[in-house]
Amino acid sequence: MPTKTSTGRGARGARGARPPLRTARAAPPDMAVEAIALDRRLAAIGGLEERLLEITRSVPGRVTFSTSLGIEDQAVLNAIATSGAAIDVFTLDTGRHFPETLETLEASENRYGLKIRVMFPDAREVEELVARDGIYGFRLAVENRKACCEVRKVRPLKRALAGAAGWVTGLRREQSAGRAHVPFAAWDSENALVKLNPIADWSLEQLEAYVAANNVPVNPLHARGFPSIGCQPCTRAIKPGEDIRAGRWWWENEDGKECGLHNRPRQKDAAA
Ligand code: ADX
Ligand code: SF4
Repeated sequence: MPTKTSTGRGARGARGARPPLRTARAAPPDMAVEAIALDRRLAAIGGLEERLLEITRSVPGRVTFSTSLGIEDQAVLNAIATSGAAIDVFTLDTGRHFPETLETLEASENRYGLKIRVMFPDAREVEELVARDGIYGFRLAVENRKACCEVRKVRPLKRALAGAAGWVTGLRREQSAGRAHVPFAAWDSENALVKLNPIADWSLEQLEAYVAANNVPVNPLHARGFPSIGCQPCTRAIKPGEDIRAGRWWWENEDGKECGLHNRPRQKDAAA
């Protein structure tokens, strides 16, 4: 928790209130090796449900799934529900979501009869951030944007992952050049757990076919030109032919367009 409340821009605010969270931790020797073996086993399994069951058999401890309620995550959610895999589900409510995203959350809970844990940012940290940078301060500088993502997404993510042994995401290699080498499973040293990307190798066509065949509820914004959906002020529809993630933080350079939930793969432990 911050020790002081800042009262205006330039004062000590959310960015200076906490020590950096990027502390890489070494894998217990067996888990680093097991993650590599699991990655190979998952690659050899065709069905998503079977992949999820293999994950719960292989990862010793709690496995948790982070959903943005986007189409990828809706497919994974459907497979969790239908396979009965023991994986709990959470979402990060940044306070800036589209109403359609929250409608998708409720529709999914009703459809699958499960609860999605909703993680919120720390209210005081948001207040400090807005006092310092302004309500739309993230538009003024990449540094401000990253500070906003840190407070509204990354820190709540760390709380949600605390104590988990496995973290399931809906990342796909096709989504961007930066995600081209996303593995199925890898030791994530930053979060000290095994990060799992069970649809890493899925194409968009494969994903859409799965969603149609299983009548999976999806965010209506996808049909309105939003293939990738984040916070409302930082997401726009794309034009035909544009990159899938072109509508996210569109005013920034391609290179830095990640919010900090998923770091760039390093040679040693390419978690995402
Ligand atoms: S982001 O990093 O650019 O925001 P993206 O929207 O592509 O990520 O989603 C990639 C994966 O990150 C999702 O499959 C999901 O596991 C996780 N994720 C993204 N946003 C959220 C969110 N708001 N809540 C929970 N998980 C999320
Ligand atoms: Fe803030 Fe935009 Fe990041 Fe959402 S995507 S947390 S509104 S900077």
